[in-house]
Amino acid sequence: MTIVPNSLQARDIAYHVHPYTDLRAHEQQGPLVITGGEGIYVHDDDGRQYIEGLAGLWCTSLGFSEKRLAEAARAQMEAMPYTHTFAHRSSEPVIELADKLLSITPPSLKKAFFVNSGSEAIDTAIKLIWYYNNARGKPEKKRIIARRRAYHGITSMAGHLTGLPYARAGFDLPASDRFFHVTTPSHYRDGREGESEDAFADRLAQEIETLILALGPDTVAAFFAEPVQGAGGVIVPPESYFPKVQKVLKKYDVLMVADEVICGFCRTGNMFGSDTFSIEPDLMTVAKQLSSAYLPIAGLLMREEFYDVLADQSAKLGVLGMGYTYGGHPVSAAVARRTLEIYEEDGILEHVRAVAPRFRAGLDRLADHPLVGEARGVGLIGGIEIVRDRKSREQYPAATKAAAIIARNCVANGLILRPLPGDAIGICPPLVIKAEEVDELFDRLWKGLEASVPAIREASS
Ligand SMILES: Cc1ncc(COP(=O)(O)O)c(C=O)c1O
Repeated sequence: MTIVPNSLQARDIAYHVHPYTDLRAHEQQGPLVITGGEGIYVHDDDGRQYIEGLAGLWCTSLGFSEKRLAEAARAQMEAMPYTHTFAHRSSEPVIELADKLLSITPPSLKKAFFVNSGSEAIDTAIKLIWYYNNARGKPEKKRIIARRRAYHGITSMAGHLTGLPYARAGFDLPASDRFFHVTTPSHYRDGREGESEDAFADRLAQEIETLILALGPDTVAAFFAEPVQGAGGVIVPPESYFPKVQKVLKKYDVLMVADEVICGFCRTGNMFGSDTFSIEPDLMTVAKQLSSAYLPIAGLLMREEFYDVLADQSAKLGVLGMGYTYGGHPVSAAVARRTLEIYEEDGILEHVRAVAPRFRAGLDRLADHPLVGEARGVGLIGGIEIVRDRKSREQYPAATKAAAIIARNCVANGLILRPLPGDAIGICPPLVIKAEEVDELFDRLWKGLEASVPAIREASS
């Protein structure tokens, strides 16, 4: 077996219809300037109103007008605007946030470390995992496995884990040979003819085991995974995928890192994607809905055993050389703490569970549209994959940029959505969306699809 670090297969690259706009095109078109919002709606500087169908970037869970968060920020700014969390310092909001967070995350996670963004949480996890294995006397155990089409952020280190070509092209990444990528758990796209979801999950777990054995178990440190892959096209794994994968990881002492940056905080119909997909994380990253994105804050959560190794090593080295000026910023922490309280006070989890069937019904309606190959989702996150031929699942040529055309037509119909690699469209509204607003979102999306048929035909002919 030849193993190539950081490899994205040619097929994956071809598959990654690139949906985004380049800077020159952006200059010509000019930005859509959002000036305000109410609930799930936002309006632009011309007064046009839109449903924010992706909650910004999968993050504004409480919508765009939550006064209680503005009040929490104001109160904390007045009380104590800044202190850091280095060298025996902390603040009340940070301590309370850590307590609250650890009371709702899987019980095995006992310690929290706060940073500013999802990418920073991932970078921090990678460095601490290396620190951990050095401390354990396993200096060779450093390699990390992720999945193709994963999105774990865009910084130099997180960009290695992200399994999407655009995170690398032109940036001189990869710059490290410690990162490896395996198959995306998309049964629709990667399953074989006649293969059940369960058999597909078996094959993917086997692929990971084969890779670990080929690399040498003593060289493999961790497996990073989003419960539902978001920015790579909203990939919902088979139910049995994570239990099978974790069995392999445990066998070879490979850490399971759940990247809950999108899935965390009720999105999938449970508090965490890990609950929905039976993941038992050793480490977990959270961000986005942690503060409903009203202020930047993210976190890395870990097991006590992991923390203890770090703590002993730092005692040996004299310091834990890891931290950020704004990590655990007290105003962000106060807003995040309030966000978690509001999830409870307003019964957001119960609300998500109540409207999720309506959301599923909307996806099922879309599945009948001639442009849609698959409409997938769980809780209040969904995606559609655009195909030229529903039977063969053939995609439009990359140059057609079908998903981008649809997203533009959705905007014209008052719905902001994001085209994604793989000619997919992501749907991830604020969690506070009401049942009738779910119907409105899917009506607008249907109109956007209808309006796109002629343009897609023309662009692909
Ligand atoms: C699963 C996941 N991890 C990490 C990140 C990176 O987060 P940030 O953009 O805050 O750096 C993202 C961003 O979308 C994400 O979706």
